[in-house]
Amino acid sequence: MIKALSVIVYSLLIFALSALSEPKKAYYGNFIASFAMCLVIVCYFPTIPDEYLTSAAIALLLGAITGTFSSHRLKTPALPQMVALLNGSGGLAAGIIGITELTASTHTFELVLLIIYTGFITFSGSLAAFIKLSAVKIPFNPQITKNLSYILFILSILSIYPIYQNTSYALLIFILLAIAFGFCFILPIGGADMSIIISVLNSFSGWSTLFVGFSTENILMIVVGTLVGSSGSILTYMMTKSMHRPLFDVFFKNPSIQKINTDSKRSEIHQASAADAAFLMENANKVIIVPGFGLAAANAQKELADMANILKQKYQVNVKFAIHPVAGRMPGHMNVLLAEADISADDVYELKDINQEFKTCDVAYVIGANDITNPLAKTLKGSPIYQMPILEVELAKRIIFVKRSLATGYANIDNPLFYADNTLMLLGDAKEVTKQIVTVLEEG
Ligand code: TAP
Repeated sequence: MIKALSVIVYSLLIFALSALSEPKKAYYGNFIASFAMCLVIVCYFPTIPDEYLTSAAIALLLGAITGTFSSHRLKTPALPQMVALLNGSGGLAAGIIGITELTASTHTFELVLLIIYTGFITFSGSLAAFIKLSAVKIPFNPQITKNLSYILFILSILSIYPIYQNTSYALLIFILLAIAFGFCFILPIGGADMSIIISVLNSFSGWSTLFVGFSTENILMIVVGTLVGSSGSILTYMMTKSMHRPLFDVFFKNPSIQKINTDSKRSEIHQASAADAAFLMENANKVIIVPGFGLAAANAQKELADMANILKQKYQVNVKFAIHPVAGRMPGHMNVLLAEADISADDVYELKDINQEFKTCDVAYVIGANDITNPLAKTLKGSPIYQMPILEVELAKRIIFVKRSLATGYANIDNPLFYADNTLMLLGDAKEVTKQIVTVLEEG
């Protein structure tokens, strides 16, 4: 019976993953995966020995309460931090299971050490990623911390030997060194690379689960670990490709940053009002909307959807949404926001499918986006976004940038497009500004 149910669970999980890869079906993918997890609990709960039943029930209840509570409190911009924490918890769980397996296991000692090592590195690395993404300031010197991490790595490998000798505290030292190594290795990595790191850590948590599955002979953990590990690796590959950052560079080379004094350049921009923007867009044939992190920060997706609907229905404008693979702070960030505002997935286009269309569009409405449109990505060698493909908004007849100031984006490089002749800067909060445009469009 359990075996039959397990096969159903594996199939559902694989099906869920394939649905999650398409924005239109992602909702169902999530639902199917949750259902599969419920089936897992139903399958395995009765197999838990009686003496552990109470603690298992308490753990389950605590997990359910924490998950429900945090999902309701979570604001969309904080999703990446949440993902970092979830990866960390997966790593910690694997590490703890590894420790228990050390005494109980009849399996290869090296495999158990690998579980402990990868589990605790994933845990502390994810904590470092969480700290960076939360913009919590902790004083540290990146180069010294990186060098320290190499020393910690060597020490952690050397500390395996005393474990074989059964020296007291040897295991504890090994674990502490793994934790310190994971933390110090991830902390100095540049903020712009954090999404890739999250994805790497995600795959690590999967591989740890896979090793635990081998060690405990639990087929379900082997399947789930393989799915998480391989999907995390594929995502890492796709992101490094989209950002044009080889994984080696992410780990070992911090990009250089070039800043322009924006205050002195403020007089050189062309500022516009909400009424100007509304006028340009209602008289356009085609408007392409480019959302970025600021849309999430301002929580302006609902207002944006209203604006697009009025333009389409009242003014018969052809409105499309252009999504850059790394817009926002996590893969699919913009797709989630747009879906939340009921924007049809048929109007949403990926970079490769829409880039050709900017040259035939009247207005590119860039809302809370910056790096993903920055033409310096093509020329500024050594910059964090060098060679990252961009949305070529500069080809549009008019560009409207909605942002609060001339400040840089995540990669900390100024955007020369702000000063271009065909650019209008609409300075203000994305939600407020879009609301004003909607009012003008409604009245017009
Ligand atoms: P960014 O380049 O970070 O630009 C976002 C812009 O939004 C900022 O310049 C900011 O300017 C503006 N903004 C912030 N709050 C706003 C508000 N309330 N109203 C209006 N504007 C607001 O974002 P992007 O263009 O989406 O590019 C993403 C960047 O993040 C890339 O460098 C990417 O590599 C990196 N990254 C991506 C990910 C993934 S996987 N998506 C993960 C981590 C990092 P003001 O302050 O002037 O308003």
